[in-house]
Parts: sequence; structure tokens; C-alpha cells
Amino acid sequence: MTEVGARGTSPELPATGQQVVKVIGNLCFSIFVVSVLVFSVIAATYQPPDPWFQTSKAITKSLSATLPNSTFATDDSLLPTGEDLVASPPSAANSGAALIYNNSFPTSSACDPNAPLNCSNPAVLAAIQRFNSKIFRKSIIFISYDTPVNGSNPDECDAAWRFRNRLEKSWRRYRDYRRFRLAPAENCTFEVVRAGKFRSGTNAARRPRRATSPPAVQIPDLDINDTIPTVGSESEFRKGRYLYYTRGGDYCKSMNHYLWSFLCGLGEAKFLNRTFVMDLSVCLAGSYTSTGENEDGKDFRFYFDFEHLKESASVVEEGDFLRDWRKWDRSSGKGQKSNGRISVRKVPTYKLTPMQLKKDKSTIVWRQFEGAEPENYWYRVCEGRASKYIQRPWHAIWKSKRLMNIVSEIAGKMDWDYDALHVVRGEKARNKELWPNLDGDTSPESLVEKVTKLVRSWRNLYIATNEPFYNYFDKLRSYYNVHLLEDYNEMWSNKSEWYNETMILNGGRPVQFDGYMRVAVDTEVLYRAKLQVETFNNLTRDCKDGINTC
Ligand SMILES: *[C@@H]1O[C@H](CO)[C@@H](O)[C@H](O)[C@H]1NC(C)=O
Ligand SMILES: *[C@@H]1O[C@H](CO)[C@@H](O)[C@H](O)[C@H]1NC(C)=O
Ligand SMILES: *[C@@H]1O[C@H](CO)[C@@H](O)[C@H](O)[C@H]1NC(C)=O
Ligand SMILES: *[C@@H]1O[C@H](CO)[C@@H](O)[C@H](O)[C@H]1NC(C)=O
Ligand SMILES: *[C@@H]1O[C@H](CO)[C@@H](O)[C@H](O)[C@H]1NC(C)=O
Ligand SMILES: *[C@@H]1O[C@H](CO)[C@@H](O)[C@H](O)[C@H]1NC(C)=O
Ligand SMILES: *[C@@H]1O[C@H](CO)[C@@H](O)[C@H](O)[C@H]1NC(C)=O
Ligand SMILES: *[C@@H]1O[C@H](CO)[C@@H](O)[C@H](O)[C@H]1NC(C)=O
Ligand SMILES: *[C@@H]1O[C@H](CO)[C@@H](O)[C@H](O)[C@H]1NC(C)=O
Ligand SMILES: *[C@@H]1O[C@H](CO)[C@@H](O)[C@H](O)[C@H]1NC(C)=O
Repeated sequence: MTEVGARGTSPELPATGQQVVKVIGNLCFSIFVVSVLVFSVIAATYQPPDPWFQTSKAITKSLSATLPNSTFATDDSLLPTGEDLVASPPSAANSGAALIYNNSFPTSSACDPNAPLNCSNPAVLAAIQRFNSKIFRKSIIFISYDTPVNGSNPDECDAAWRFRNRLEKSWRRYRDYRRFRLAPAENCTFEVVRAGKFRSGTNAARRPRRATSPPAVQIPDLDINDTIPTVGSESEFRKGRYLYYTRGGDYCKSMNHYLWSFLCGLGEAKFLNRTFVMDLSVCLAGSYTSTGENEDGKDFRFYFDFEHLKESASVVEEGDFLRDWRKWDRSSGKGQKSNGRISVRKVPTYKLTPMQLKKDKSTIVWRQFEGAEPENYWYRVCEGRASKYIQRPWHAIWKSKRLMNIVSEIAGKMDWDYDALHVVRGEKARNKELWPNLDGDTSPESLVEKVTKLVRSWRNLYIATNEPFYNYFDKLRSYYNVHLLEDYNEMWSNKSEWYNETMILNGGRPVQFDGYMRVAVDTEVLYRAKLQVETFNNLTRDCKDGINTC
């Protein structure tokens, strides 16, 4: 039996009723915790929704404290995006997840218990479905199954399916394939006697190719389609209405600052009923890079789900847009049949409000962001009175599916049965003025003392943290199966699917798994845990945003 388990996880799946009951109990509790969290987020983020997990008062306070300084000092290691802010997960019924097990099969040779196991026999799939739904029903929504294929032994079959974690609020589907050992049972049925770990069923790994997909392009996750939409013809271009923002002072600022600004632009475009011209090139701030220097030329699609953005907002890519504009704007000067110039309204300053531009009929509204920082920040457009008219479309921003595949794989390797601990250290632990107790409260000794009171011993414990020293949590290893992001680094190594996929986006050059990606994956693994222990509230009485802010 192939074991693809992660370090320290139990080799067998829990199968007895007792364990299932325990699992259910845990899950009910975690669902309760999550629903309380979600409820408070929704309550707190009354228009426009906001990415920070805080009360509305604290949001207003911290934003008004930091925004005039334009520092985004509230930048945290936790970065929720649109899919984390959805009120309730999509229901299983709408997702085609209602699989009905059909246990009545026509009696045939399949009933001969001595006949060789035929993995295509529907009774095999039915047995696997029954088994899966018994074990994972509380963590996973099964969406569809492929027909099982032969495993490595005559009594084994490999089965693949699509699923969604119950704690995932987006519609995205993930894939798993496992190896099952089966035995004939009564009435022409089978039963699973042993099941492999996450993605152990390697013979079923290859998804059935869609007939339409061109065989030349090897894109491992066929669900992802983040091709860049193009405008098409000149007449279509002229019919369109665009909002174009010149790169402002936001470039190379923190990712939260970037999103705050980008979503302001997207919100204005929505308000003006225009297509937003977007620059897919992102500059990653030095705080997230290995060199500590800002790194230019990152692709938006490394971090965020461009496919979802395309579906939720009207956008075109800047490079294509500028090329088309230049090409079709020239027609008037020459003798040929001319459609006239493309009308442009240039807006040099953010002080001209979106409301004043609402009536403008120009093809292009071009905000130019002249002036020095912080006058040239995009988000200034949405300040003041404009904030009453413009809503930032947070729902349009999801994390990249390629990163979420890694999240799903990490959680899957722990069979979705883990608790998580969030340990914030870094800058905050060093700043004794604003966080006087944080360093002490997150010391190895103190962690052992506190966490053992909150989490049952020998659980899988995933630690999401910005503490760079790998062995910092070693004391907890005497009580828990500790998992750290670094334990899963093969998932972004040069042998990984992620590496291959991002390289395609990057014109064939390898992409580094950078600090922001780490944070995104760490955060999402944390969110999927059954029990979450937070730094602020659970480990320390210091406030998240510094002394006297809570
Ligand atoms: C903002 O600037 C003011 C004055 O320069 C300073 O007192 C305050 O601490 C700053 N706030 C933040 C959050 O940096
Ligand atoms: C189950 O399978 C049998 C035989 O293949 C078929 O006649 C029956 O309609 C199926 N029932 C359901 C609920 O799909
Ligand atoms: C296995 O079962 C499938 C479906 O019942 C059938 O089409 C196929 O011929 C069987 N193969 C063998 C080798 O018996
Ligand atoms: C699966 O195994 C059976 C017998 O173990 C064999 O007859 C069949 O050809 C195998 N099918 C494939 C696709 O390898
Ligand atoms: C097998 O079928 C018989 C008659 O149809 C039924 O009484 C019995 O309960 C079935 N056994 C199982 C395990 O389903
Ligand atoms: C990807 O999406 C674009 C629209 O954004 C569509 O035109 C294209 O056909 C899609 N490609 C695939 C392979 O589905
Ligand atoms: C938005 O623009 C589209 C075409 O660009 C037009 O069909 C639609 O009526 C406009 N909606 C509003 C509310 O102005
Ligand atoms: C992958 O990385 C390893 C270690 O960094 C290196 O030895 C190996 O040559 C790399 N392989 C490829 C295909 O880049
Ligand atoms: C990545 O691409 C290389 C070369 O195209 C291929 O040999 C390798 O199997 C791919 N790895 C994965 C995990 O898809
Ligand atoms: C963490 O603290 C919050 C707020 O005090 C509390 O609701 C939650 O139950 C605590 N979590 C654990 C695991 O004790």
C-alpha cells in the first residue's frame, strides 16, 4: 500500500463509529467557532466590506489612524480575501454534490466472489462512495467521481473525485485520488477494507482529457482558465467605455495597500459603468521577498484568481488596451475613412470625484495621479464623500487557485483532521512598546503551557506563523504532531505542479515561492482547521494593533 502521508499523521483512516462521533463533535464546535467568526465579520464589515478582522469601530479607528499617514501599519500576517468574507458557504445541493448511491446492480458475473476484481464495476465505485461519505462527510463535499481504475494489486482500485472543503466558501473544486483495497461482500456489493492517504491513487491521477483541450499545452489544473481577455475589433473598442488609472505611488507598497487601492479603482469603474484597465504586473514589496528589496514584474495571477476577477468585474489588460488605443486612434489624421479620434477625458487629480465623472461620455476616462506621495495614491479617489458612493468589490478578489491547490493538499495530507495555532511574532514581538507581552506570551515555554490547555494532546497541530526559526516550536512536539508550512516545501519545489504552472505564466522562467504566497497558504490552512487558537485573545492579552486598541 502506497503511503503518501505527511510526517506524523496516523497511517490509517479513522473508521470506527466512536472516532467518527469524536470527529463530528470536534467539527460541530469548529463550525460554531467559524460561524461566530463569520457572523462577526459580516456584522463588522457593513459597507464597504473590509479585509481586516476587527470590529467596525476598530476598523474606522485604525484606518483613520493609518491612512492619513499612508503607511498601512495594520498590515498583518493574516490576509483574508473575498472568499473568506462570504456569509455562508454555497450549499451542497446547488453544487451537484448530491450523489445518490445506487446499490442495486444487475446480477451478473460480478457476483462471483472468485472472479477478478473489475474496477469499472459500478459496485466498486458505490463501495468507495459509501466509505468516503462515512469518513469525510463532515469535512468534505464530494462533487463528482471518475470511474475507478486498476491499482497496483489485483484487489486494489484507484479512484479520483472532485471535492470542496466545507470551510471553503468559493465554488472552486479540488481533486483527490486514493488507492482502495476492496473485498467482495453480500449481494454483489463490495466493501473497502483499506484506504490510502491523500493522492495515493496515482493510477487515477491523470484526469480524463477533455476532447477539446489542445494536447500541445500541458496545463495540469484544467479548471484554471486565466487567459487574458482581448477587446477584439475596432468597433467593439470604440463602443466600450474605459477607466484607466496611470500607475500611482501605490506601486511597490504592501499587498494590503495594493488591494485597498486596486479595489478602489475597480469600485469606481463599477460606479461609472466602465471597464477597468488593469495592469497585471504587480510589484512585491520588500517585506515579502527573500532579498528584502522590492521586486517588480510579478504577475497578478501568482497571487489572485484572475478567472474569478474576469467573471465578477469588467476588466481589460493594460498592454493590449494601450496597443489598441494607439492603433485605432490614428485614423483621423490620414485621408482614409475615419471614425475620428477616440475621446479621452484626462483627470489629473483625485480631487475630481467619481460623482463628477458619472455623466462623462468619453470613451476613456484617464486618471493620471500627478503629484507626490501621498497625493498620487489610487485609494484617495475613494476617500471623503466618494466613499458613500463607491463600494470596493472585495468579493471579486479570491486567492489564486494554484495556491489553493497547495492549501488543499496540505489539509488533505492531514485528512482534514487537524487543529491550528496562529503564532504572530516578527516585528510585533520585537516592539515592546506597543506589544509588551507578546514576545513572552509566545515563547516556547509559554506556548506549551497555554496550548496544552486548549488542544487535546497528539492531535495534528498546524502552526501558522511568521516566526522564521524552524525549531522554535520543538517543545510542542512532545505533545502534538506539529506541522509547519516548511514541512510541505516539496509542493512548490522544482518538481511540483505549482512550479510548472507558474512557470508557464512567467514566460518559461521559474517563479519563487515568496513571502506573500507563504502567508496566503498559511492563512488558508489555518482557516480550515477544526479548532483555531489565535495569538490575540487566546495566547496574549496584548491587542492586535498595539497597546490600548482593544
Ligand atoms: C501618523 O502620524 C502621526 C504624526 O506624524 C503620528 O503621531 C502617528 O503615530 C502616526 N500613526 C501611525 C499609525 O503611524
Ligand atoms: C440503480 O441501478 C439500476 C440498474 O442499473 C437501475 O435500474 C435503477 O434505476 C438505478 N436506480 C437509481 C436510483 O439510479
Ligand atoms: C468491467 O466492468 C465493466 C462495466 O461493468 C465492463 O464494461 C467491462 O467489460 C468489465 N471488464 C472486464 C475485464 O470484465
Ligand atoms: C486491470 O486488471 C485486470 C485484471 O487484474 C486486467 O484484466 C485488466 O486488463 C486491467 N485493466 C487495465 C486498464 O490495465
Ligand atoms: C441481501 O439481500 C437480501 C435479500 O434481497 C436482504 O435480505 C439482505 O438484507 C441483503 N444483505 C445486505 C447486507 O444488504
Ligand atoms: C478561457 O476563458 C476565455 C474567456 O475569458 C474563453 O474565451 C476561452 O475559450 C476559455 N478557454 C478554455 C480552454 O476554456
Ligand atoms: C452600462 O453600460 C452598458 C454598455 O456599456 C449599457 O448597456 C448599460 O445599460 C449601462 N448600465 C447603466 C446602469 O448605465
Ligand atoms: C531542482 O532543484 C535542485 C536543488 O535545488 C537542483 O539540484 C536540480 O537541478 C533542480 N532541477 C531542475 C529540473 O531544475
Ligand atoms: C513539470 O514539467 C516537467 C517538464 O515538462 C515534467 O517532466 C514534469 O513531470 C512536470 N511535473 C509535474 C509535477 O507536473
Ligand atoms: C480564543 O479566544 C476567543 C475569544 O476570547 C474564544 O471565543 C475562543 O473560544 C478561544 N479559542 C480557544 C481554542 O479557546
